[in-house]
Amino acid sequence: MSKYAVIGNPIDHSLSPMIHAQFAKQVGLSITYEKILSPINEFSSSVERFIKSGGLGFNITVPFKINAYELTNDCTLNAKAAGAVNTIKVENNTLIGENTDGIGLVNDLCNNLNQSLKDKEILIIGAGGATQGILKPLLDCGPEKILLANRTKDKSIKLAHKFSKYGKVCGFGLDQIKAKPVDIVINATSASIAGKMPELANGVAEGAICYDLMYGIETPFMKWAYKNSALKVSDGLGMLVEQAASSFAFWHGKTPQTRPVINLLREKDD
Ligand code: ATR
Repeated sequence: MSKYAVIGNPIDHSLSPMIHAQFAKQVGLSITYEKILSPINEFSSSVERFIKSGGLGFNITVPFKINAYELTNDCTLNAKAAGAVNTIKVENNTLIGENTDGIGLVNDLCNNLNQSLKDKEILIIGAGGATQGILKPLLDCGPEKILLANRTKDKSIKLAHKFSKYGKVCGFGLDQIKAKPVDIVINATSASIAGKMPELANGVAEGAICYDLMYGIETPFMKWAYKNSALKVSDGLGMLVEQAASSFAFWHGKTPQTRPVINLLREKDD
């Protein structure tokens, strides 16, 4: 049986084994997919052990996506732009890296939430690793512009500058964002993990699609969006399943159906 895994710390909460098992069943593949808890300073030896045991591919989650990028021998353009990988394929002892986070978000927005991103004004809150992973795929969809707002203004300005070769993106401090509605607001901060809401002008949510990259709970950002007349509010569960589907296709050359798996996970949640 071909062997796959997800490596992270912590890893207990990961839904990836269940998602990949569903995909494999759909397309009739026989695989194993395990969770590997790697000690913080031992990521590369955890990878080495997995490959020696016959591993053909693995996902990488917090906090190892940058370590994983540094470990690869070759990378896709997406991964290079992000400077981080969440998917590695092992071929003749060569590690090929991909980052499917941004494609996962785009596919969820476009295919599941029926949004076109072309000519839209998108506001992204946060300028950390999560934002770095989604910027290029979003810019590739041809939005009118992306406003990148961060609590620490210097970081969003730097990041906007780095990605300006892919499309129109401008960096701001969170406090510079006016209460003017935009089309899509994406919360890519880690504030939700701490149960907090970034300090953001209320008016931006009006009539907008408000998307939190986090999943599993209704976050303070989502509650804020409902209260401030958002058109649609979503957590990041669809993105999780979509990024997994892109990883699956990267390894197996077959694209699974995501809708049944998203529905299954939502039912499980109820
Ligand atoms: P990740 O890999 O999840 O993106 P990160 O690289 O540590 O994590 O980045 C966290 C992001 O969330 C940063 O943009 C951070 O803002 P700062 O750069 O100012 O630290 C943002 N963030 C975290 N908590 C926040 C809060 N309470 N309000 C606003 N932004 C917050």
